Formats: sequence, structure tokens, C-alpha cells
Amino acid sequence: MARAIYPGSFDPATYGHLDIIRRAAALFDEVIVGVLNNSAKSPLFSVEERVNILENITKDVPNVAVTSFSGLSVNFARSCNAKVIIRGLRAITDFEYELQMAQTNRVLAQDVDTMFLTTSLEYAYLSSTTVKEAAYFGADISKFVPEYVVRKVEEKYRRNPAG
Ligand code: PNS
Repeated sequence: MARAIYPGSFDPATYGHLDIIRRAAALFDEVIVGVLNNSAKSPLFSVEERVNILENITKDVPNVAVTSFSGLSVNFARSCNAKVIIRGLRAITDFEYELQMAQTNRVLAQDVDTMFLTTSLEYAYLSSTTVKEAAYFGADISKFVPEYVVRKVEEKYRRNPAG
């Protein structure tokens, strides 16, 4: 059984993330999306909300599971019995950080490899941060995130207009 994890912040998940998830799901028997529970960051969505969003937008992909994790991605991979960490590469600007992370992970765990999927061109400019900023200032974000996520982001900013 070839299993991969796809760790990230997903605050919130975008069409770019969904593209990577779908393509990884076509390559592996099972893909476990891991939402990092990082207390140092102050995300817009709680970890439970981010898991809920990902579950909702991937419900049509049967071999994808979503969960949260704390600590190192390599330990999460091992706990899932996964040998591969999936990461998306949008542009050269992602590369330096991703290479450093993959190399660190490789030293930490020789039994886990990182596999990069290049984000489809139509989503290469997308990031959760720019989606939140656009929504905060009232822009239509439906080209960036699935309808369910549009609603969740709009709810957040309606309830808490200060962000
Ligand atoms: O979506 P992001 O914020 O780019 O995801 C980054 C993530 C969660 C993959 C990365 O920060 C991570 O793996 N964090 C867990 C701690 C860890 O394993 N760090 C890398 C080796 S020190």
C-alpha cells in the first residue's frame, strides 16, 4: 500500500491545494492530508475548522483522509505508515524553503522521502495569505477557493470584520 502525507497549514485550503491533493491521490493508494496544529501561529481558522474544510472539499476523492498533527512532519508520516511527504511547488520562490525543509526531513528520517508536485499553471499564483487579504477587503474569492471555502471565509470576516 503506497501511502503519502500532504502536510500544511491550509489556512484555508485553496484550489491550488486541491489540485495537489487530487493529483497525489491519483499517484498513491492513500493520501493523508495533515493540518499542522501550530500554536505559534495565529491562523484565521482553528485546526478543527481547517480539517472540516478539507474534508468537505475532498469528499468526492475516496482515497483521501484528513487529520491534524502536531510536531514534525516526518513523525506524522511515520505514524501514518507513509514513506512520502508531498509538497506543492508553485514557483522558484518556494524552492529554497522547500529544499531546505526536504533536506532537513531527509536527515531526520531516511525512511521518508519528499516528492514535489508542480502546481498547475492556473493556480501557480495562489496562496492562502493573498486569498484572505482579498476577502478581507471584500473581493470575490470564488476563483481562488471552492464555494464551501468562500462561505467559510466570508462568515469569518462578517463575524470579525477586524480580521
Ligand atoms: O502550508 P505550509 O505553511 O507551507 O506548511 C509548512 C509545513 C506544515 C509543511 C511545515 O512547516 C512543517 O512540516 N511543519 C512541522 C514541523 C517540521 O516538520 N518542520 C520541518 C523540519 S524542521
